[in-house]
Amino acid sequence: MPMRITPSILNADFAHLGDEIARLPSADAIHIDVMDNHFVPNLTIGLPVVKAVRAACETMLDIHLMIDQPDRWAPDYAEAGAESVAFHVEAAAAPVRLARELHARGARAGVALNPATPVEAVAHLLGEVDMILLMTVEPGFGGQGFLDLVLPKVRQVRALIAASGRDIWLQVDGGVSLATIGRAAAAGADTFVAGSAVVSADDPDQMVVALRQAAEAGAAK
Ligand code: DX5
Ligand code: ZN
Repeated sequence: MPMRITPSILNADFAHLGDEIARLPSADAIHIDVMDNHFVPNLTIGLPVVKAVRAACETMLDIHLMIDQPDRWAPDYAEAGAESVAFHVEAAAAPVRLARELHARGARAGVALNPATPVEAVAHLLGEVDMILLMTVEPGFGGQGFLDLVLPKVRQVRALIAASGRDIWLQVDGGVSLATIGRAAAAGADTFVAGSAVVSADDPDQMVVALRQAAEAGAAK
């Protein structure tokens, strides 16, 4: 199972996003956190900036929508050329229809769960999505501590994916660092968002490489 590192630009220098992304050539995708100050108590960036990033780089874009009414907004991100768009199951009115609309626009569909949301909320969606995103912090801000209490849920989702026989990515997001990534990989995650750990590193791209190695070591346990 390949281990993917998808750095978040949430704590990057928004005035120089193109440069920030260019210095991460080892990233499997760039994770972009879209927040609306309704679903989460923070406001970040939206569609115009994602379109500008799309035009400025060829890296896979992994959009994480922390917004209300994703049914209304998510398809536009796929239309803008993002290869993956994840919406929160807590916010979606019709997740099956939304996943299908993302596919119709050529994007992978992801569904995200807050730490308190049980796996049962997405068990019926395994035939519809390409990625399940488990938040390992409460969403809204970078730089928070990894919540180990989510690890049993990572194991549960890995078992559901294995039973489905489908190639569904299992992403963890929040507090991922060299100190925590091994535990998440051992529990069954294969795709890792890392924000502050990458942005604050002396050599961000080298940190991406080191995180991938640590994930591979954790998964091998
Ligand atoms: C939090 C965001 C995360 C965040 C990760 O709501 O979804 O993607 O940027 O940042 P770190 O790695 O610093 O927790
Ligand atoms: Zn995120």
